[in-house]
Amino acid sequence: MTAAPKKLFIKTYGCQMNVYDSERMAETLGQQGYVTTDNQAEADMVLLNTCHIREKAAEKLYSDLGRLKPLKAEKPDLKIGVAGCVAQAEGEEIVRRMPLVDLVVGPQSYHRLPQMEAQVQTGKRALDTEFPEDDKFDVMAARPKAKRGPTAFLTVQEGCDKFCAFCVVPYTRGAEISRPADKIIAEARGLVEAGVREITLLGQNVNAYHGGAGGLAGLCAELAKIDGLDRIRYTTSHPNDMDDALIAAHGEEPKMMPYLHLPVQSGSDRILKAMNRKHTAEAYLRLIERIRAARPDILLTSDFIVGFPGETDDDFEQTLQLIEAVGYGAAYSFKYSARPGTPAAEKEDVPSDVADERLQRLQALLTQQQRAAQNAMVGKTTTVLFEKPGRLDRQWGGKSEHLHAVHVESEEDLRGQIREVLITASAPNSLAGQLT
Ligand code: 5AD
Ligand code: SF4
Repeated sequence: MTAAPKKLFIKTYGCQMNVYDSERMAETLGQQGYVTTDNQAEADMVLLNTCHIREKAAEKLYSDLGRLKPLKAEKPDLKIGVAGCVAQAEGEEIVRRMPLVDLVVGPQSYHRLPQMEAQVQTGKRALDTEFPEDDKFDVMAARPKAKRGPTAFLTVQEGCDKFCAFCVVPYTRGAEISRPADKIIAEARGLVEAGVREITLLGQNVNAYHGGAGGLAGLCAELAKIDGLDRIRYTTSHPNDMDDALIAAHGEEPKMMPYLHLPVQSGSDRILKAMNRKHTAEAYLRLIERIRAARPDILLTSDFIVGFPGETDDDFEQTLQLIEAVGYGAAYSFKYSARPGTPAAEKEDVPSDVADERLQRLQALLTQQQRAAQNAMVGKTTTVLFEKPGRLDRQWGGKSEHLHAVHVESEEDLRGQIREVLITASAPNSLAGQLT
């Protein structure tokens, strides 16, 4: 008789790269006999894959660890691991402060999980937050061929050399590295064989990719040659790395989806300079013009930070003006959070209530723009990649080219199909349509 497989529960916080990392960690531990579970109570190992980008995100780890105490008391054999960017930034402190944690693994070390797991099983604790020389993607075994859903993330680049004054990423994820193009193409082929039709290429600075000829545009062109791969997206990009070839690709390669996340953070040149973003608001607006000239219907999204140290009412007004000038399809906005070790953390904060009020105004404007972009789709035909049944009977949900959530009614099983849909109505966060 074979032993029952051990159960792994992973909780993922933060960005899409963590989603990808969690998948790869689950696959790596799969070789140690683990299967994943959605039920934390039945887990033999709980792995928290954490985010350090803002204080609130990092604090969640400690509250979740607190909540795990009774489970560990009940099941002393339960192993608890912390992965991701908080592990990287605060690994030793976690080991010191949190006796219930057995394992701490940074984002560049998760290929070492099998050895760490073995160590933990002997009752010892394991900590690895190095930036090892060996490439984790090379060391990890090939991805399993099991059938999977129609969309997938694929990390092509990691780390960041930009050092924006507010950001922990260059410290937690390290220097920029690009995976070799042939490895990425092989991984993409494997995903397509497993049923994937849309791949989102991931990198903290994805458009700085330099792992093959022609940068990210060159990589997208190679990926576009894969039969069965129908849609290509990428995120997150820095404005200064949007080169001519990548802009042109949006106009020329039909598999490139008309969607671009291009964070600007602020519309004030004074604040952009203090943030070390290395471009002006005007340069960003000119860049948007060039992108729209290549692909007029592209949907643009951004990240914004309000209340960066030194931000005045006038600076904030300039951010609102930039938003008005661009017209975003969606955006993420955050109140500035001082992160230990970053240059901006030394500066005096904008009063919290002032930042709160600015955030509300900014979000109201962005919500209005998001609604306008959705409403503008009504009456148009678009293609939708269907992923899963909706909440209602005979309802199917998927994503449009512009990454709008779309649902239709259909008797047919639409999973994994790309179909033309006439958009008939717009709700706050989704569109309704009919198959044509
Ligand atoms: N405070 C608030 N928001 C931040 N971001 C990054 N660092 C901080 C910080 N210290 C935001 C930026 C970035 C997004 C991923 O998170 O807008 O683009
Ligand atoms: Fe952080 Fe992005 Fe700036 Fe890099 S470019 S430091 S990841 S905000």
